[in-house]
Amino acid sequence: MLRMTNIRKVFRTELVETCALDDFSLSVDQGEFVTITGPSGCGKTTFLNIAGLLETASSGQYLLDNVDVSQLRDSARAKIRNQKIGFIFQSFNLMPDLNLFDNIDVPLRYRGMKSSERKDRIEKALDSVGLLARKKHIPSQLSGGQQQRVAIARALVGDPLFLLADEPTGNLDSNTAQGVMDLLHEINEAGTTIIMVTHDQEMANKSKRNIHILDGRISNSVSQNDARGSAAATA
Ligand SMILES: Nc1ncnc2c1ncn2[C@@H]1O[C@H](COP(=O)(O)OP(=O)(O)OP(=O)(O)O)[C@@H](O)[C@H]1O
Ligand SMILES: [Mg+2]
Repeated sequence: MLRMTNIRKVFRTELVETCALDDFSLSVDQGEFVTITGPSGCGKTTFLNIAGLLETASSGQYLLDNVDVSQLRDSARAKIRNQKIGFIFQSFNLMPDLNLFDNIDVPLRYRGMKSSERKDRIEKALDSVGLLARKKHIPSQLSGGQQQRVAIARALVGDPLFLLADEPTGNLDSNTAQGVMDLLHEINEAGTTIIMVTHDQEMANKSKRNIHILDGRISNSVSQNDARGSAAATA
């Protein structure tokens, strides 16, 4: 589903050149729950941004759903991003002036979908995160965990091929974080592929596969027998 081969990403500024990813190769299959860990600055967000077509690699190949997306124009990349990828960020990134219904409507409007279909989808997505009754509220009327649930509903509403999450529990207290993690595990068990960056090794241990990055390279990959099983292999 996602296949990166020898990806390299170099950021050049006037003062320094940073190689954020180097010789980075990774395949993720449909239905996986992969966590990405590693120290600050090791390249985790850079990987997610390339995976999510927000940035292009300096070199290497990226196949998404068997399509080589390395060479596509911006408009084609935006379309794939809208249709196949859902994003969840640490800071939720909801529109403060829009109510929950309208926040979740944002990605669907880009698709030019009929309003009746949008309404059905939005209500189903809000229901799946337990917030349908709050659809007229604006984000500031919700707790942090609830706001992240809205962001998850927005990421899911378009039926993406996979979800990319960058520290989705980083701004939440540990109880609320656990609730969001349980929701992500449910979503994965229902079939959505998830790739999640986390600082929390305990959360990483509960995923099916944990990829550890050091200095832009994969340093370790651990697979579990099942989502809550014990470590089975180290490579
Ligand atoms: N737009 C940019 N311009 C220049 N350098 C950048 C840019 N984006 C990232 N970098 C550099 O690339 C490296 C990897 O950054 P990245 O954001 O991927 O790290 P990270 O693993 O997500 O870190 P954190 O855990 O702190 O979020 C860092 O050295 C960073 O300074
Ligand atoms: Mg980061």
